[in-house]
Amino acid sequence: MARKRNPRKTGSSEQPSEVVRPHVIPKKASKGRKKPTGPLITVRHMNRRDINRVWDFLKVSFREVNAETVEYQRPRSKHRFEEVFAEEGIEQLMFEVDGDIVAYAECSYEVTGSDNWINPRYFEKRDMRPLFVDELAVHPDWHGRGVGSFALEQLHHLARVHGLNQLVLEVAENNERALEWYKKRSFKKLDAAIFMAVGVDLEPELLPPRELPAARTIEPPPSSGDNVSSSK
Ligand SMILES: CC(C)(COP(=O)(O)OP(=O)(O)OC[C@H]1O[C@@H](n2cnc3c(N)ncnc32)[C@H](O)[C@@H]1OP(=O)(O)O)[C@@H](O)C(=O)NCCC(=O)NCCS
Repeated sequence: MARKRNPRKTGSSEQPSEVVRPHVIPKKASKGRKKPTGPLITVRHMNRRDINRVWDFLKVSFREVNAETVEYQRPRSKHRFEEVFAEEGIEQLMFEVDGDIVAYAECSYEVTGSDNWINPRYFEKRDMRPLFVDELAVHPDWHGRGVGSFALEQLHHLARVHGLNQLVLEVAENNERALEWYKKRSFKKLDAAIFMAVGVDLEPELLPPRELPAARTIEPPPSSGDNVSSSK
């Protein structure tokens, strides 16, 4: 397993660590002169002061997906998001164009927390050393412009420099766009954990009204005086 490491807490610069141009179609093509270029995308580590902005970004980015999936694809809760920032061994990366957040990626080097569902022995037995991708989201306005591909390339790069030979993530089977996107990028299904449901024939909880038997005419018991006189 890789060592826990968090550059954010080791005094890393807030400047973008990489500057790469995604393959974005430029709005205006200049005639015959310099080859037109698209906007510049930068990546940097998230800082404490970015938490609110990234949280708002995530809510927008997952809104559509969350409306169609059983399990909320993310984000879980603001409180949890703040806790994650304080945790060791988690990288939170922001991708920006002209200062606007266009993508966010979060990954961890180890299975962290006591409440996760990942079994580390699965990977150990297979000599898989994963970088766990906990979050990858592109702003809806930037879908299909190469931003996700750039973020994924950054994650591959992180894995490589840390000696990790797998990217592992969870995606809902009915998040079809993302699932196809990952498959196209050589991700393979590892496990078969899917939500299953079966229809149940409904019955009302309370019994329907029921007709009671008609009241019976009850004959009065013989009086005690009668009994005494008859025994004489
Ligand atoms: C899945 C997701 C990350 C993909 O990000 P993206 O930025 O749209 O991905 P890309 O632009 O790199 O690739 C998308 C497609 O657009 C194409 N594309 C890239 N640049 C393009 C451009 N300039 N113009 C048009 N299409 C372009 C790519 O070829 C790619 O097509 P392909 O998958 O058939 O190869 C994004 O849809 C997303 O954030 N979804 C919501 C959150 C989510 O579901 N996250 C995953 C949960 S685990």
